[in-house]
Amino acid sequence: MQELNTKETSVALADDLANDLALLLEPYKREKIFVLTDDNTFKMCFPLIQQVPGISFDRCIIIGAGDAHKDIAALTKVLEALVVGGATRHSLLVNLGGGMPCDLGGFAAATFKRGIAFINIPTTLLAQVDASVGGKTGINFMGFKNEIGSFMQARQVLVDTSLLKTLDSENLISGFAEMIKHAYLKGTEMLERTLRFDILNPDMKELAALVAESIKIKDEYVTADPFEKNIRKALNLGHTIGHAFESFALKKNRPVFHGYAVAYGMVAELYLAHLKLQFPMALVEQLSEYVKRVYGSFEYAAADFDYLYETMTHDKKNQAGRINFTLLRNPGEVAINIHCERHEVEEALKYFIGK
Ligand SMILES: NC(=O)c1ccc[n+]([C@@H]2O[C@H](COP(=O)([O-])OP(=O)(O)OC[C@H]3O[C@@H](n4cnc5c(N)ncnc54)[C@H](O)[C@@H]3O)[C@@H](O)[C@H]2O)c1
Ligand SMILES: [Zn+2]
Repeated sequence: MQELNTKETSVALADDLANDLALLLEPYKREKIFVLTDDNTFKMCFPLIQQVPGISFDRCIIIGAGDAHKDIAALTKVLEALVVGGATRHSLLVNLGGGMPCDLGGFAAATFKRGIAFINIPTTLLAQVDASVGGKTGINFMGFKNEIGSFMQARQVLVDTSLLKTLDSENLISGFAEMIKHAYLKGTEMLERTLRFDILNPDMKELAALVAESIKIKDEYVTADPFEKNIRKALNLGHTIGHAFESFALKKNRPVFHGYAVAYGMVAELYLAHLKLQFPMALVEQLSEYVKRVYGSFEYAAADFDYLYETMTHDKKNQAGRINFTLLRNPGEVAINIHCERHEVEEALKYFIGK
């Protein structure tokens, strides 16, 4: 196991998952240890950690797979299993899954007996580079994403890219969009390396190296601003328009993966960065072509601008009705809280349609 040089979240890269986990669980040997999975990770990932030498899990809690289950009913199920299983304040919860079980399990751990320790073992690319790192936990509520939650850091995140072997390619490509986002925040060298990587036909060894770099970039922003008061907002690049695309697609009954929406949103937002901050147009075109090739096209018309703009005004990160964007001057030169007028946002939406 190799400790990554991160500050806010403790992250280690696994060499041998079961043995590495045995080392991490050593301090909890005399305590109760619970594992949380969803239906899929129970089948595909739990067998890989079931035989941790010298450790027996008290209970494996299984919730339904998919974001529809990131809800209060699943949270209740987890909390009930902890109570029935005799969990104490010294017990440990191991979240084995994508962003959904990591967010939900982290929140259960944050609130159970005012907080117990948890470890994340992220099993999707999105969770490895993003959701499992940074301390945001929570559930969806009354139709709103992550409406209830808390900040609570995992005691440890253990990343093993070989878990991605069973992940379907759409989920893999979706997670890669967050790595592209991190690369834009870091700078030209990381960006070129990331865009050169062939995610459609991935070399898993190179992917593991890129994942490690990507986690470090996220951790730098989380360390600088753990509670997202200022610079952590950089991580929203592509997400203001991306979330509007995601809602729009859902409304039209043709849902898209989160990372796909973020990839489309990044193209539109880089164009906005060009309008507002002179981000180089050649780089906007480069991403636009890349996204079209890897993520395909995303369709809407000028008649949909009202809905898209309206959705952006509801983003919980806005203040006083103004839509603020995270934009770039150049790769690695971030500007947060950039207010854009409606006609500027529409121009960016128009640019994306023409692509
Ligand atoms: N906390 C944060 O900072 C943060 C950041 C980004 C996203 N998120 C949250 O993360 C969630 C999205 O994460 P996700 O995309 O990982 O979703 P997910 O956990 O729902 O996983 C996607 C699908 O992949 C399956 N799966 C997981 N691992 C697998 C594996 N190894 N092999 C085969 N199938 C596997 C799951 O069962 C599920 O069907 C959302 O709820 C989002 O809000 C949180
Ligand atoms: Zn995202």
